[in-house]
Order: sequence, then structure tokens, then C-alpha cells
Amino acid sequence: MNDTSDETNQSKANQQWGGRFAAGPAAIMRDINASIGFDQKLWRQDIRGSLAHAAMLGKIGILVPEDVTAIAAGLEEIAGEIEGGNFPFSVELEDIHMNIEARLTDRIGEAGKRLHTARSRNDQVATDFRLWVRDAIDGLTAQLSDAMRALAERAAAHAADPMPGFTHLQTAQPVTFGHHLLAYVEMLDRDRGRLTDSRRRMNVAPLGSAALAGTSFPIDRDMTAAALGFDRPSSNSLDAVSDRDFALEFLSAAAISAMHLSRFAEEIVIWCSAPYRFVRLSDAFTTGSSIMPQKRNPDAAELVRAKTGRITGALVGLLTVMKGLPLAYAKDMQEDKEPVFDAAEAWALSLAATAGMVRDLTPDTTRMREFAGSGFATATDLADWLVRVLKLPFRSAHHITGTLVGVAEKKGVDLADLTLEEMRAVEPGITAEVFSVLTVEASVASRVSHGGTAPANVAREAARWLEALA
Ligand code: ARG
Repeated sequence: MNDTSDETNQSKANQQWGGRFAAGPAAIMRDINASIGFDQKLWRQDIRGSLAHAAMLGKIGILVPEDVTAIAAGLEEIAGEIEGGNFPFSVELEDIHMNIEARLTDRIGEAGKRLHTARSRNDQVATDFRLWVRDAIDGLTAQLSDAMRALAERAAAHAADPMPGFTHLQTAQPVTFGHHLLAYVEMLDRDRGRLTDSRRRMNVAPLGSAALAGTSFPIDRDMTAAALGFDRPSSNSLDAVSDRDFALEFLSAAAISAMHLSRFAEEIVIWCSAPYRFVRLSDAFTTGSSIMPQKRNPDAAELVRAKTGRITGALVGLLTVMKGLPLAYAKDMQEDKEPVFDAAEAWALSLAATAGMVRDLTPDTTRMREFAGSGFATATDLADWLVRVLKLPFRSAHHITGTLVGVAEKKGVDLADLTLEEMRAVEPGITAEVFSVLTVEASVASRVSHGGTAPANVAREAARWLEALA
């Protein structure tokens, strides 16, 4: 900031645009151009990539063995410096690639300057970023599995505990709490699948594509690809340096998963509210209010619900950056990293908080059971009985049941509290047997169709998931 050229620029800038512009064009250029403020996160991947590249240059005889050894030792020392917080990051050196390379040359001299043979920052950053996203995929896949395990464990414990099932957030039919939790296991499993699919597609090495056209040096791209755990080197150098599909696929998987987590978070918020009181979160996952002493706010759930915003924003942001970019690399693409870093962090935090809340929450099964039967939740069971026993067409059964619901509503009672006479007044064929299907327990137990909420089904599904996740 304080060098003379900046001062000159500053006075020029001040002349042109007035006092608001403290920094001249050159300083502004440096600030907009530098990525070191955020891409230092890639340091491990950058060093890994350079180690693989140097070893390959040694093998094909571009670097003498002593240089390879010096480079490797220098990079290890730099890793130690960064790890220990002693690395002198410089904005003048723009990004992590030039910071590390310059430091290497400071430390080992000439050999450091040879490292960039047959390589460009364009294939370097594409490689580093892929490695970073791949690591993030592995970490998030494990976290998804952990959240699924937490849900499946609770589902197993509550396979037979009824709760009201909703559509339109209106009481629909009784389900079990376990069944409800396993619905989220299914969602998170698809999220995991999306990560696995994208990992398979992304695991191709751009390194060796150089700036955009490939290189005249006789490099061994299979060797570097294998050293970095890629399945193969990329096939088209132009595509390789300008492709950010892997980041976009990661973000779209993140956005879909965050949407799932936000739905669960919203349910927790609803379940914790005073009119519901279906679950209680401990002090570990709630906060109090500075004014209302009675409050227990489900802030963690609310924040998981909200993180969806920035994660979806990251996807839309990067899609917008990439749209319309001509081949090959353009500096626009430097804007790819922050949304990915931010979304990965928010997703990881959301998953940890979700798993934590699932393990923490105490369901009030008595209250859930009570509400499972309210709101004429077993009306469909009555209609089904009319079809099964009286052989009525479903539409007629639906109409009769609707009339009976009206009678009960007027009387202010549940369907099961109507007398047999009151029922017969509407449909003379009804017998006392009908009452056996009007309980919540009978209702859930009857839903034995594949994927249905019958406790036996839910217990089997929970066990299947726990085994798969073990
Ligand atoms: N910092 C750059 C980025 O993140 C690295 C690649 C720069 N390449 C270039 N030709 N300027 O995209």
C-alpha cells in the first residue's frame, strides 16, 4: 500500500475521483486480482500437486534427481510453515500457487524455478481445486452417513410410536415417528448418491493440460494422475482448464441436501413450538431469550433452515460466473472458490447440527399419540372398511365417511365415539366390527403395503439401514 507507485496513483486517483478513492488504480488492480485471501485454503492440494509434478519431471529427465529431492524437501518445509502459521503470505504474489513457488525458490534457489516447467497456473488451479472438492466430498459423505445413522437409530426406537401424519400441514392419517424419521434417511441417502456420482465423474486429472493447449515436453500424465489418486488424465486440454462442472455438481448436491435439511429443521421448529410440543431439545441445542425467561428457542434448527439460502446462492452464483465464458481459462473463474468453500462449510455445519439435534431431542410420544387420533385421522380407515367389508365402491364409502365425520364434528366427538346407531343411521350395513379399525394403533398396523408405515415395516427398514450404515 505504501510504496511510491501507489502514492503516485493515489494522488492521480484523488484528482480524478476525489477523496473517496484512497487507493489508486494499481492498488485496486492488486486487490481485485489477488486470490490469496481465500485460495490459501488450497495449500495442501497445491503442495501435493507440485510434489507429483516434480516427481514426474524427474522421471522423464527434465529435472535432475538432486532438484527433485530439493523441491520435495522445500515443499515439506513450506507445508510445516503454513501449518504452523509462519508462512509469509503476500498479496503481491496474487495466489497460493505463486506464493508457494516463490517461497520455494527463496529457500532452494534455482531448482525452485524449474518446477513450473510444462505446467501453468491454469492446470494447476484446476487440479488443486478438484483435489479440494474431492476431499470435501469424502468428508461430507461421511457426515451424511452419520446423520442417517442418527435418524435410523431413533427410528428403530420409535418404530411403533404413532404421530399425526400431515398433508398440507393438516391432519391426514396416523404414521409412526420412526417412519417419519426414515423419510429423511431416504433423502440423505440420495444426497450421498449425488456426491458419489459426481465424485466418479470429477476424478479426472487436468494436470499436464498446461495453459490451454497441452505442452511440448514429453510429460507422463498417467503418472501424475495416478499419484494424485485420479482415475485418468483428462482428454482435452481446453476443456480441462476451463471445466468447473465438478464444482457446480458439488454445489447442486449441496443445495438439494440443504433443502432437505431445511425441511427437517422446519419440522423441528414446529415440533418444539408450544402448541405442538412433540419434541423437546436440550439446553445444548437451544438458546434463551434476553427478555422472555420462559423461552427455549430452537436456534440451531432455524440456522440449518437458513443456511439453505447461502448454499443455494453459491450454486446460482457460480452458474452465473460460468455462463457465457468462452474457452479456455478466464480470470472470472477465480470466483469459483469462495462459493464452494462457503457452501461446503455451511453444509458440514448443518449436517453436524442436524445429527446433533436428532441425538439430542426427546420426543413426547404420549402427546404425539394423542394428536395422532385427533382431527378424524382414521377417516380413511373407516372408508377402507366400508369397501373391504360392505363391498361398497370407494367413492360411495368416501361419501358415507364424510357424512359421518360431519355428524361427529357436530357432536364434538371423534369418529370412534359415535354410537353404532348413529353410524347405522347413515349406513345401515355398518356393524360393531367397524370400531376395530378406528384406533390409531389399528390404523398404522394396517399400513403393511411396501413402504407403508406399519410398525413391523418401520422396524425392518430401520434395521436394514442400521446394518447398511454400520
Ligand atoms: N488465482 C487463479 C485462479 O484462482 C489461478 C490461475 C491464474 N491463471 C492465470 N492465467 N492468471 O483462478
